[in-house]
Amino acid sequence: MAIIQLEDVNKEFGKGKNTVAALKSIDLEIQQGEFVAVVGPSGCGKSTLLHVMAGLEQPSGGRVLLDAVDVTLISERDLPKVRAQKIGFVFQAFLLIEDLTAYENVESVLWPNEELTKETQEKMTLEVLRDVDMLERRDHFPRQMSGGEQQRVAIARALVNKPPILFCDEPTGNLDSKIGDSIMKDISTLAKEKNMTVVLVTHNEDLTKYAKRVLHMKDGAIR
Ligand SMILES: Nc1ncnc2c1ncn2[C@@H]1O[C@H](COP(=O)(O)OP(=O)(O)OP(=O)(O)O)[C@@H](O)[C@H]1O
Ligand SMILES: [Mg+2]
Repeated sequence: MAIIQLEDVNKEFGKGKNTVAALKSIDLEIQQGEFVAVVGPSGCGKSTLLHVMAGLEQPSGGRVLLDAVDVTLISERDLPKVRAQKIGFVFQAFLLIEDLTAYENVESVLWPNEELTKETQEKMTLEVLRDVDMLERRDHFPRQMSGGEQQRVAIARALVNKPPILFCDEPTGNLDSKIGDSIMKDISTLAKEKNMTVVLVTHNEDLTKYAKRVLHMKDGAIR
């Protein structure tokens, strides 16, 4: 059974003659453990597609199923919990919390999980920070970090709860190609080990080598 399923998904922004059709009748199935890359020109709808898949934005029409659960039918109240259990998201614009340190930004994902002791949370957080080589910068605030460093923290934050589904929106756009490639390699290894499903948006054709399937988007549609 597909872990992610989109049925005739449409997304429009704005009203009247300013309407932008960002997603046009998207049908898509992604299997558990699959690594899918999405490529296409700027403005073609890649980020919108990821946000809709992750339940961060409601589609204007159609259905989005995660693990056979229709995300459009989950209440506002339950959605954060479902996302916390199922989804890691690396945003195109990092979205780190300004007044939390690198360490706290990553660990904050685990705070709502009452089953984890403080010690376990600390151990998990330090482990992912080490993976992205940000252990030494752990007490820095986002404004004290370079773009690439913030991006590495954002990646650590997405991975810390070992999510079954990982969405990455240009996760290596601000990293030099060597670090970017090594992080993608780590994500790809982790994905295989954990049977994690990965959907990666990238401009970098080179990174599509990690994907089992490449989707080409144009004008809000998948070709
Ligand atoms: N909140 C919004 N309000 C209005 N229009 C939007 C909004 N978000 C996105 N759009 C429009 O929807 C289209 C798709 O945007 P999206 O961000 O998904 O593109 P993208 O493929 O991720 O581009 P990029 O590669 O530059 O990140 C664009 O034309 C954009 O201007
Ligand atoms: Mg985008």
